[in-house]
Amino acid sequence: MRIRASAPAVALAVLAAGLTSCAQAPREAGVRYLVGFSQANLTEPWRLAMTEEVKLEAALHPDIKIIYADAADSTNRQIDDVQRLMDYGIDLLIISPTDSRALTPIVREAYSKVPVIVLDRAVEGYDYSLFIGPDNERLGREAGGVISELLGNRAGTVIEVQGRSGSPPALARSHGLREVLAKHPNLKVVDTIVADWLRDTAEDKVAARIRTIPDIDVIFAQNDAMAFGAWRATRVAGRQGIKFIGIDGLPGPTGGIELVRRHVLSATFTCPTGGKEAVIYALDILQRKEGIPKKIFLRPEKVTPDVLVQTQAGVPHSKLARLPPGRRIVLGFAQIGSESEWRVANTKSVKSAAAKAGIELLFEDGKQHQENQIAAIRSFIRRKVDVIAFSPVVEKGWEEVLREAKEAGIPVILSDRSVDLSDDSLWLTFMGSDFVEEGRRAGRWLVENMKASGPVNIVELVGTIGSAPAIDRTIGFAEVIKDYPNYKVIASESGDFLRTQGYDVMKKILAGESRKINAVFAHNDDMAIGAIQAIEEAGLKPGKDVIIVSIDAAHGAFKAMIDGKLSCAVECNPLLGPQLMKAVKDYMSGKDLPIRMITAEGVFPAATARQDIKGREY
Ligand code: AHR
Repeated sequence: MRIRASAPAVALAVLAAGLTSCAQAPREAGVRYLVGFSQANLTEPWRLAMTEEVKLEAALHPDIKIIYADAADSTNRQIDDVQRLMDYGIDLLIISPTDSRALTPIVREAYSKVPVIVLDRAVEGYDYSLFIGPDNERLGREAGGVISELLGNRAGTVIEVQGRSGSPPALARSHGLREVLAKHPNLKVVDTIVADWLRDTAEDKVAARIRTIPDIDVIFAQNDAMAFGAWRATRVAGRQGIKFIGIDGLPGPTGGIELVRRHVLSATFTCPTGGKEAVIYALDILQRKEGIPKKIFLRPEKVTPDVLVQTQAGVPHSKLARLPPGRRIVLGFAQIGSESEWRVANTKSVKSAAAKAGIELLFEDGKQHQENQIAAIRSFIRRKVDVIAFSPVVEKGWEEVLREAKEAGIPVILSDRSVDLSDDSLWLTFMGSDFVEEGRRAGRWLVENMKASGPVNIVELVGTIGSAPAIDRTIGFAEVIKDYPNYKVIASESGDFLRTQGYDVMKKILAGESRKINAVFAHNDDMAIGAIQAIEEAGLKPGKDVIIVSIDAAHGAFKAMIDGKLSCAVECNPLLGPQLMKAVKDYMSGKDLPIRMITAEGVFPAATARQDIKGREY
């Protein structure tokens, strides 16, 4: 293991202590927190930049000391590194894993003792304090957007140069790219080249392949190094007129920003390393601050020659504190309504967190109607609030009002639910659950626990049509059960997240369905509780004749599980208030916010409900 401390004088001492003994070392005066940073390698420029960011940020906090370990791309070495860092007595571990699966057990072990921040590549499961990473699908989508801007409506051909085959960022970036290109039938990916993130490999492979492809309009490489390699190959081959797009946007003489400045690349996207955020969140965690999410995804910035001209120096402008001294922050919050136990808990969390944070809250209840929420947002704009937050009842239809907020210079935070807009600059950040994952969890629980070999007929009680949770939970659930052909959704109807409608819809389905219903997947607890009543009235035993899984895991669900009527509740955490207030304060103090913040959630089966309900706030 190569362990280094940030100050050279200390480096030797730390290195020696780390290598020769497993005993905890005494702390230097003034060092309150000892943090271990296990880096996957120090050869990729992007990882060097990440390590540099960690150092720079740590240097601003004299009470924190970082011990660095470089695994040199070896999984075994990294496992060893983590073990030694733990033996050294660190208070928190930051790790950027070489391999997600192989590192999962040691990260889990470390997490049982100290908080752990996972950077860039996630490990499996949720045994860590916080994941920080780039939004790779989004990077791919943004690259697709630039390609369509560059080529307009004319027919165009694209070559994609991918990173290491099967690696999560390579898959996600490609997925995002293809999602956008699929909407433009004039644009075709004519070849995919795998170049392992390396410039020279890209150069060799592109050189070999382009001989056989006469027309190429754009080469999109999943990082700038490969984009540069591809550019060199086309130069040697004398091929002109091809546009190049990369990802990483690192500063420095060989970084992507310089490549854009030299017009080698038409565009790149910054792929934030998360190094700075890791140190900031490490301190927040160690100081037990409230409102720490489970996962955060950082915002990429598009860098084109035009953007460089605009920002002149070619680096993102630093953000200044946005609040005049001595004034309270004013936050406008447009809630959906009070359709469910979840929503009531969410409202309570927002109100109490605002009071605790000293933020003036203007709260409007949309009573389930989009037009009410739009009117509330307009009223916040008129009242010149500092920040607007809202939970959009449905995904579409917000362009106009959010543009008005943008024109008024008021940032908008999406809380709990996301929007589906073509212009993502209309909102600042999203915080809430991963609804697709919740759907998957419900599906997984069902197949793993029913263990049925015969047909399983499922009724799906869908949330509000057009809302993010209804759309995403359906997708996640379907994704899991598609691999089990005996599990079939035989009826899928919306109960609008309401208990009364869950009852009505289930009653109607039971009356009209001749097939046996084996299971119900309800998009929220309230609809499940309504359905339970309908099932009982039909003379069946919920939880026995019909297995029921719902999402939210609020108190009502726990009661139903303890009564043996509900089989499992997948958690959707409504306690977003502290996280929202932290984001508002961070933004107002001039900090950059991540683009997405995802909350921690679990799965609660009936078998342990009596125990699990203890100490739950909702
Ligand atoms: O958006 C979160 C969903 O909205 C909850 O799962 C549901 O109960 C609520 O009404």
